[in-house]
Amino acid sequence: MRPTPATASVPAIDVDSVTVHYGDVLALDGASLKLERGRICGLVGMNGSGKSTLFKSIMGLVKPDAGSVTIGGATPAQARRSGVVSYVPQSEDVDWQFPLSVQDVVMMGRYGHMGMSRRPRKADRLAVADALERVDLNDFAHRQIGQLSGGQKKRTFVARGIAQGATTLLLDEPFAGVDKRSEATICALLKGLAADGATVLVSTHDLHALPDLADEAVLLMRRVLLHGSPDEVLRPENLALAFGLDTATAAVMSAAEVPA
Ligand SMILES: Nc1ncnc2c1ncn2[C@@H]1O[C@H](COP(=O)(O)OP(=O)(O)OP(=O)(O)O)[C@@H](O)[C@H]1O
Ligand SMILES: [Mg+2]
Repeated sequence: MRPTPATASVPAIDVDSVTVHYGDVLALDGASLKLERGRICGLVGMNGSGKSTLFKSIMGLVKPDAGSVTIGGATPAQARRSGVVSYVPQSEDVDWQFPLSVQDVVMMGRYGHMGMSRRPRKADRLAVADALERVDLNDFAHRQIGQLSGGQKKRTFVARGIAQGATTLLLDEPFAGVDKRSEATICALLKGLAADGATVLVSTHDLHALPDLADEAVLLMRRVLLHGSPDEVLRPENLALAFGLDTATAAVMSAAEVPA
């Protein structure tokens, strides 16, 4: 569906000067980021640069000390309630012992469609089956989530977003510990969703994957240092800035991870 002029001017994600502290730790310091509909944006930054905190701020899971976030013009809480936003958390942030099956997690994406009863109907079961099919996890529907491989865990959460019909997808390191086949499956799904108008923000340490996957990229170091094309973000001088390296080391890093 083509955006109408009224909705076209509202960014899919608008992070405006967001500052977040955890106690004395300053995790985000006036971070600002606007993403348009239908774009895939890669989020790059060193460990502790605030990537997960940015995702949690967009989801409304941490409350900024200053600044604001909107998703398609709505507050994070409104966007969560209406099901337009979905989140694949970093593995470390999930309780994998929780007694939920793959199908249960994907069905959670349908809660917003079910009303108060939370009783799945045929349409919900079909949406879950379709999402599991698309991430190639039909055979694992009844497996407890802790008993999955890293790639299967990621695909389970991607399936939840698909079943939900989310138009804004946030993925925190979906390629960590994932083999090339799972990575390719996830990349193809994300590109398909973006082609249908979804907006995707995806953090990754796999710089090699960026130019193929993303339309644009962001370098984060508590604030947005640079928002541009993947090629621009991967320039050694820019990586040096974000990763606190000298340019020569960053050139080796970018040459090693990003084929010419
Ligand atoms: N719950 C918390 N309590 C205290 N400090 C925290 C908490 N979560 C994150 N931090 C701190 O906030 C800063 C940003 O952390 P965040 O997890 O957002 O970084 P990140 O870019 O996602 O890192 P990584 O690449 O390792 O996942 C870090 O200094 C981290 O130690
Ligand atoms: Mg993180």
